[in-house]
Formats: sequence, structure tokens, C-alpha cells
Amino acid sequence: MSVLVVCPGKDPENWVNELRNQHPGMNIYVYPEDHDKEEVEFALAWNHPRGLFKNYPNLKVIASMGAGVDHILSDSGLPEEVAVTKVVDDMLTQDMSDFVLSQVMNHIRGLHYYTKAQKEKKWDRFQYQRPKDTQVGIMGLGVLGNAVADKLDKNGFRVYGWSRTEKNCENVTSFHGKEQMEEFLQNCDILICLLPLTQDTENILNADLFDMLPEGAYIINVARGQHLVEHDLMEMIDSGHLSGASLDVFREEPLPEEHPFWEHEKINITPHIASLTNPKSVVPQIVENYERMMENEPLKNKVEIDKGY
Ligand code: NDP
Ligand code: OXD
Repeated sequence: MSVLVVCPGKDPENWVNELRNQHPGMNIYVYPEDHDKEEVEFALAWNHPRGLFKNYPNLKVIASMGAGVDHILSDSGLPEEVAVTKVVDDMLTQDMSDFVLSQVMNHIRGLHYYTKAQKEKKWDRFQYQRPKDTQVGIMGLGVLGNAVADKLDKNGFRVYGWSRTEKNCENVTSFHGKEQMEEFLQNCDILICLLPLTQDTENILNADLFDMLPEGAYIINVARGQHLVEHDLMEMIDSGHLSGASLDVFREEPLPEEHPFWEHEKINITPHIASLTNPKSVVPQIVENYERMMENEPLKNKVEIDKGY
């Protein structure tokens, strides 16, 4: 039995070393090195070539290297019986909530503006907003959305949340489903997207949604680039309805040099670093699932393929 590590464009070395440290004796192949496809029962994947896995007749589990599984489930050539798992990791969760807090604070204190003002040697002070006067809405109240809600609440923000199913969270005024979306959005001075990318959530950050936000709302997208209709965002910022955006994820990554987002003074760009997966921290759960698969035990952090997350 063997494990296939497949992550084109990403360095597999740390993953392979950690797998070997934490499970000596595991037989590992790194795609595209030569290997016997019949031997592979477990794959660790990030952005695998489409259709690859249909050539593995004994594959049982595909483990995502990250929290998102859209890069796996969007492959129409996935074998039918295969299980898919995602990462749930305290370090990843904490890093995401730290990042989102930093972007929210940056916005209400106007720090992006002062970075620009310094370049122009401009001593230009203006009043800032305080957390207790700021309503922040989070789309997606899963592992990461919940942690972000908690951190914002502890820092004095008024927190709102939106999910597919009903929630009863302490300190978060929560809404669910399409019917309650407008009521949720009306409360958001700042809107954070932490949804998984599925058929239902693709292009969800569009002009109709932005229209339901209060004048001057700010967007933070740390989920996937495909959630955002880029043209609608630019129009809504340029018309003054939105005050700006912090974007960590893009339809095309790396963001092409000629993309207008780079030059937009109200758009803040980071290169998909809101929260980076740390192989040392994550490999124990991969190894545990590998062992569970061998023992025919239920896998941890298994996603519901029909639901898409
Ligand atoms: P989870 O699966 O734990 O949570 C997903 C949440 O979204 C749930 O609350 C779910 O609702 C809600 N949701 C799903 N579909 C809908 C819908 N149609 N309408 C309303 N709500 C919906 O995901 P995680 O918190 O672990 O991760 C979220 C995403 O963050 C990942 O999929 C990934 O794309 C992104 N990510 C980005 C990183 C970065 O560095 N930028 C790093 C890590 C992850 P319900 O609870 O009712 O099921
Ligand atoms: C993830 C990511 O899904 O890095 O973990 O985006």
C-alpha cells in the first residue's frame, strides 16, 4: 500500500519529510515520479491535474492539503467511491482569525490611507471608527468563520453571521439561508467571506449582494477568488457605494501583472497568505486518517461530497 503526494506548483519536500518522520515505513510517491498506480490507496493533494485520480483503481481517500476541497471536488473525473478529507488545524484557524482582525483594524483605523499619505509626505489626520461602533458580518460560520467571529467579539466588535443552516452562537447574531440574507447584509459595515467554494456560493459576491450592504461597506475576501465578480466590485467601489476591499484570494493566482486590482488605491492585495497550512502541524491528522483507512475506521474531517464542503 502506498501514499501519493500530488501538489504541482507547491514544494512537496516538507510534507514528505513530515510524513516519513511521523510514520516511518510509509511508502510515498511524489507525482509525477514513476510509480505503480495499483499500489496507491491514499493521496495527499493540492491542485492535482484534472482526471488524474481515475487512473488509480484502488484509491480510497484523497486528503486535501488545506481547509478548502474545491480543488478536489471540481474534478469531474473523481472516482465514485473515494472519500475526501479537509484540514482542520488550530494553527490554521488562529492564523486566519489574526489575519482577518488585522484587516478589520486596518480598515477602521484607515492605515492603508496613511501608508499612501506617508509616500506623499501628507500630514492628514481623520477621525477613526471604534470596534463597538462597527458591525462586522461573516459569511460562513464553519471552523474558520466561527473562530473569526469569536476573535472579533472579544475585540469589541458587533458580530453578525450567515450560514446555510440555523446556528445558535453566543455573541453572534446569526442568520441563515437565502431568505435571511438581505437582513444579514443590512447589518454589515464590513463583510467577510469565509464560505467554501461550491455551486451555490460561486459568484456570490456580486452587484446584487453589494447593493444590499449599507453605503460605505468594506469587503474582505479570504475564501476563494471565484466567490467574487471582480467587475462588480470595481464598479461598486468606483461609484462610492463600497469603500474598498481587502482581497487575499483571486480567480487567477498569482494575480496577473496587468490586473487592474494591483493599481486600485482602495483595494488591498495579499497573495493568499491569510492562513498558511503548516505541514508539521497538519501531518498528524493525515497520518491518523491513513491509519483509520487501513483499520476501516471512520475518517476524521471527511467532507460531504454532495454538499461540496
Ligand atoms: P467549513 O466547511 O468549516 O464551513 C463552511 C461554512 O460555510 C459553514 O458555516 C456553512 O454553513 C457555510 N456555507 C456553505 N455553503 C453555504 C451556502 N450556500 N449559504 C450559506 N452558508 C453556506 O469551512 P472552513 O471554515 O474550514 O473554510 C472556509 C473556506 O476558507 C475554505 O473552503 C477555503 O476556501 C477558505 N480558506 C482560505 C484560506 C486562505 O489562506 N485564504 C486558508 C484556509 C481556508 P453550515 O454551517 O450551515 O453548513
Ligand atoms: C486552504 C487554503 O484551503 O490555503 O487551506 O486556501
